[in-house]
Amino acid sequence: MALPSARSVRLWAVLAFLPTAVWAGFALTHTETQTSIAHGPLIEAHAGVACAECHVKTAGTVRQQIQAQIRYLVGVRETPVDFGYAEVQSAQCLACHSRPNERHPIYRFREPRFVKAVTDVDARSCLGCHSEHIPQIVTEMPTLCQACHGDLTLKNDPVDVSHEDLIAQRNWESCLGCHDFHGNHPFQTPTTLTDRVAEVAIWAYFQGGEDPFGGPKFYKGKAP
Ligand code: HEC
Ligand code: HEC
Ligand code: HEC
Ligand code: HEC
Ligand code: HEC
Repeated sequence: MALPSARSVRLWAVLAFLPTAVWAGFALTHTETQTSIAHGPLIEAHAGVACAECHVKTAGTVRQQIQAQIRYLVGVRETPVDFGYAEVQSAQCLACHSRPNERHPIYRFREPRFVKAVTDVDARSCLGCHSEHIPQIVTEMPTLCQACHGDLTLKNDPVDVSHEDLIAQRNWESCLGCHDFHGNHPFQTPTTLTDRVAEVAIWAYFQGGEDPFGGPKFYKGKAP
């Protein structure tokens, strides 16, 4: 049986993907079609943020992009390129959310000592814990602290149940009850376990519900 020639594979790929490319390019730049091709609505806080704030055009001409797509289709390239649009990256989030008081800045977790931790929770990227087009504002589990704080001990621990004990009990659900992750809320850290924010309130917040840490935030995202 004769295999299709490289030339006919290429022709097929172009014919199959050209309409998609043209359509996607059109749809992402026309408001009336924008929502119809998104996977789901934006989170409430992002109402009014334009698609293009997160979906930036890729470098290269349409011809180069088609060539890259073909190399992917025939197995020479490892990743496909999105037609005209790059994968969403932390840089887009940081354009609106960078802040000087960040407790867990993503760049820190590119250090070699976090190699193992980031296989549990990819703290090197906003998208390791957040996504879009789904109702959840945080996609990681509330227990995510365990990836890095397993050996935490405090001198003169001020908490009624010490951090050491909480960790020995594997009570990772408790952490966010007393600390927010980014440190962007004027939240007074409790010293008694009974005063912590309840786990259900944190879970509801992750699902898009009320922010249990109180406000006003030190830094708000840049308004669209
Ligand atoms: C706040 C940032 C943000 C905004 C605004 C946004 N998106 Fe997205 N979008 C994402 C993220 C994150 C993903 C997950 C996939 C990825 O990483 O590319 C995604 C995925 C998608 C996908 C699936 C693409 C794929 O490769 O799986 C489409 C289609 C899409 N968005 C369309 C839209 C449209 C249309 C709008 C405007 C209504 C929009 N998006 C606004 C962040 C955003
Ligand atoms: C064009 C500016 C803009 C971009 C780009 C943007 N955001 Fe936002 N974001 C905002 C604004 C404005 C708010 C609402 C004010 C606030 O809570 O800081 C917000 C709120 C949020 C919230 C809080 C939601 C809530 O209900 O409390 C999260 C989480 C968030 N953004 C994550 C992201 C991530 C992750 C990205 C990148 C994929 C991103 N944002 C990109 C402007 C932006
Ligand atoms: C390791 C997980 C993780 C990573 C990585 C991460 N976040 Fe978060 N983020 C959280 C958690 C947990 C919360 C809820 C607790 C809180 O409010 O701090 C949150 C809350 C937020 C909020 C709402 C509260 C606030 O601080 O305004 C915003 C906005 C946000 N993240 C943006 C980002 C951006 C932008 C990045 C990338 C630069 C990022 N996050 C990276 C876990 C993460
Ligand atoms: C990917 C690794 C990683 C994860 C996941 C992580 N942390 Fe951290 N955390 C760190 C590092 C590194 C520091 C800084 C320690 C230092 O400066 O010596 C830190 C610092 C802190 C601090 C002290 C901040 C300050 O400014 O004094 C608190 C509180 C904290 N983390 C709580 C949490 C909580 C709660 C979670 C889970 C929601 C969490 N962390 C998840 C790595 C992580
Ligand atoms: C009952 C409240 C409470 C709980 C639960 C709690 N913490 Fe704390 N944590 C504190 C207080 C109070 C401090 C002292 C510093 C401060 O005020 O932030 C602290 C300090 C820290 C620090 C800074 C340590 C240093 O040397 O500066 C880290 C990191 C931390 N906690 C992580 C965690 C993690 C991880 C968990 C979950 C196992 C957790 N905490 C659970 C209240 C709590």
